[in-house]
Amino acid sequence: MTDLTPAPIFAENEKMIASLPDSAKVVMSGMRPTGKLHLGHYMGVLRNWVGLQDQFPCFFSIADWHALTTKYDNTANLRQDILDMALDWLAAGIDPEKATLFVQSSIPEIAELHLLMSMITPAKWVQTDPTLKDMVAMLHEDLSYGLLGYPVLQTVDILSVRAGLVPVGKDQLAHLEISRDIARRFNHMYQTDIFAEPRPLLTETPMLIGLDGRKMGKSFNNAIFLSETADETLAKIKTAITDPARIKRTDPGNPDLCEVVFKYYEAFAPAPVRDLAAEECKTAARGCMDCKKILAELVNEAMAPMRERRALYAGDRSQVEAFLKAGGEKARAACQETLTKVKAVMHLF
Ligand code: TRP
Repeated sequence: MTDLTPAPIFAENEKMIASLPDSAKVVMSGMRPTGKLHLGHYMGVLRNWVGLQDQFPCFFSIADWHALTTKYDNTANLRQDILDMALDWLAAGIDPEKATLFVQSSIPEIAELHLLMSMITPAKWVQTDPTLKDMVAMLHEDLSYGLLGYPVLQTVDILSVRAGLVPVGKDQLAHLEISRDIARRFNHMYQTDIFAEPRPLLTETPMLIGLDGRKMGKSFNNAIFLSETADETLAKIKTAITDPARIKRTDPGNPDLCEVVFKYYEAFAPAPVRDLAAEECKTAARGCMDCKKILAELVNEAMAPMRERRALYAGDRSQVEAFLKAGGEKARAACQETLTKVKAVMHLF
């Protein structure tokens, strides 16, 4: 059983990384625990984290305080969501021996640093953050004080472990711009070099679309969850939309019009297997159902190592909790060191 290889890091990133001092070659990223993760998360994010943990010290945070910025009114499932996310990460191949995974709220120093950083951050910077504006536009209520601070809290996630590299999607670039501005402003104001200006690490991974052709998401019933069995995955893949013009089994198909299935072939099949599928579609040598069954086998093959790892931990939640506790202690030590330095340059007690 082998894992899919991580998507390559853009060549321009390689150059950027090479130019950094070693102390800044630390990776930090996070996710809000908002429910089960799906294959889109794996292909677009987790697979890259798995690759990074072999190259750099990595901190991966389950950002439960960030989840509270919008989901404060119903926290009944929060603890379960956190453990589910940790299990998804472990299943995906995040290795607690290599990377530090932890729960954000287990580190009070992050809250203290957030307070201090909020003092030096001009309100205008967060008020004009386009990513935050998008979040606010989706709200059904007034903007809260906590949500306004979202980019500052995210900045502290990164700066508290003095990370210089932040693997994120394009949607997070605006937040990261603020993080760079805050790091620079702090260093300048207190004449220090405590913080590296964090840089985004974008990868070449294309987004995996949902089985209905829309963005993969848990609310659309178009996602394959990492926790699903091989049979459930097969059943889901059978629902994928295909070339609408190919009605009868004997009709020749057009792979270009069968975007979803062929995007998945691109993501999961070696080139010859993908080319054969396209060829047999065009000549009607292969029907859509068979094509999807073969695809499901490929997807299930990619998910097999994840299922194996999940089985190791799923029966024993206490082990997952123990990993988070150990990771939290390690991350906390790094944050304490940062806080001590910050307080010293600010002449605080
Ligand atoms: N805002 C990020 C998201 O929604 C999650 C996040 C929290 C994060 N803290 C972070 C990402 C620190 C990168 C670094 O995806």
